[in-house]
Formats: sequence, structure tokens, C-alpha cells
Amino acid sequence: MSILKIKINPDSGLRRKSQDLDKQDLRHDGFQELIGDMAETMIAKDGIGLAAPQVGENIRLIVVNTKDGVLPMINPVISSKSLAKEWDEEGCLSVPNTFGQVKRHKKIRCKFISAEGEAKRIEAKGLLARVIQHEIDHLDGILFIDKAKDIHEAHEL
Ligand code: NI
Repeated sequence: MSILKIKINPDSGLRRKSQDLDKQDLRHDGFQELIGDMAETMIAKDGIGLAAPQVGENIRLIVVNTKDGVLPMINPVISSKSLAKEWDEEGCLSVPNTFGQVKRHKKIRCKFISAEGEAKRIEAKGLLARVIQHEIDHLDGILFIDKAKDIHEAHEL
């Protein structure tokens, strides 16, 4: 496995709408390796989520860190969401040293395909719901700074 290079804003690849994957794509040798590399890259960079366009692949694949470990999600779609939203601080590996407040749905249900090609559903709330919404935005070429208020740089300790 290897650590992948992360695309940094501004980059046209970060602004493109990514393509859905089909079952055949999952069987490709390079695909499982990409999932492993994305997981390793996310952990190495202290991220809690990473989307394929951030590593130069415009495909609908994200990895998110959950309490049970790294969860790869293929073709993720939000199937329902709470009316309630909340503001919280976000950052992004593609927008270094930048943070801002973003309003997200508190709770979501999401359909996706697992790395093994199985149809799955997840219900997420709080931070995990936020991370999934942030990563799915990446698949549509949206960065958190497009939605954030109070954008500020990190302060050195
Ligand atoms: Ni991000």
C-alpha cells in the first residue's frame, strides 16, 4: 500500500462531477488497491474521510473513519435526512490550514455499495453524518469552503 498525493485547491479535478462505478470496476485489481491506499492516506494525514477525486480519481468512492474502522463507500447516495441541521467546524485535506462552520443535516440514511460489491445502508448521525455529507459533496465537485461561514486559518500553537 502507498500514501497517495492529495490534490490541493484550486485544482480542476476537485471541481468535476465524479462518475458512478459499476460492479465490473470493483473486480479490477487496481480498485481494491486504491481503496487500501485511500484508507492508508486518510489515516496517515489524520483525516476522518477522503474522497477519490482528492487523489485524482473522478469516481464515486469515499472512505470514512468510523468507530469500527475504515468504511469504504461506493456510489453513496443519501436516501433520507433529518430536517434538523447543525453548524460545526470542518476542514479538508484538499484545503490545508483552513477551517469554517458548515451547516449539515444532523442525521442521514445512506445507500452505498461495499468494497465486496454488496448493497448496504447506513444510518449516521453527528460527526459521521457530517463526514459522509462532506465527502459526497466532493463527488459533486463541491468543497466545504463553498458553504462555510467564519472561514479562518488554523492558529499555530
Ligand atoms: Ni474534504
